[in-house]
Amino acid sequence: MEAASQDNVSPCNVDFDFRELSARDKYKLMIGTVVPRPIALVTTVDLQGRVNAAPFSFFNCLSADPPILALGVENHPDMRFKDTGLNVRLTEVFTVNIVSHAIAEAMHLCAAPFPPEQDELKAAGLTAMPGVKVASPWIKEAPASFECRRHLTLEVGKSRQIILGEIVFAHYHADVIDVDRMRIDPARLDAIARLGGNTCSTIRDRFEMLTPTLDEYHAGLSGDRG
Ligand SMILES: Cc1cc2nc3c(=O)[nH]c(=O)nc-3n(C[C@H](O)[C@H](O)[C@H](O)COP(=O)(O)O)c2cc1C
Repeated sequence: MEAASQDNVSPCNVDFDFRELSARDKYKLMIGTVVPRPIALVTTVDLQGRVNAAPFSFFNCLSADPPILALGVENHPDMRFKDTGLNVRLTEVFTVNIVSHAIAEAMHLCAAPFPPEQDELKAAGLTAMPGVKVASPWIKEAPASFECRRHLTLEVGKSRQIILGEIVFAHYHADVIDVDRMRIDPARLDAIARLGGNTCSTIRDRFEMLTPTLDEYHAGLSGDRG
């Protein structure tokens, strides 16, 4: 272990050597710090075609070309695969449904530890629509859904996989997207996000920022200098 030298710790800071922390503490620091995390309500099917749905906030898009999404899927404490991880292994497909505020409670119900034979979508009152390119369904009530084929699975630890999926088809509620400009309206998408602990948030406090050109930057500096 490399101890932090006096020069690179500040008395005003609280510092952690991540390699010395328990798995639980690492988790708590990471989920409280990397915020807001979007929530993917992931739908999959098993080999009998039975539908499964579960939320994942270790989720983001990592590349647009190819269009790649990532999910961080943990095993159960007894090392059994979660149904989502197992179904992706077996069928090589999954669908990411974006969670709006309107379906937040339904999403949360899908996280309950239902047995594999129980269809979480039905229990949550959500509607499964047949996938166009993949066997997993998309959710009618979700403002946007991405049908994905498994691209790569990274086994990053004995109990955690990062599943990369390539988006092969997308569905949007018509009022969410301006198709001429290919612009998504964040107010209409109304996606929620996960913070630390059990806290979630909306994304309703927004502001615009334009990256300045170098000319604008220099003009601003000379202005400051008078
Ligand atoms: C908002 C939210 C986010 C979650 N994010 C994750 C995650 O990123 N990774 C994970 O393994 N479990 C996550 N969970 C827990 C799973 O959803 C939960 O274990 C679920 O029962 C798994 O279902 P499955 O066995 O049908 O796949 C999350 C739960 C909630 C409520």
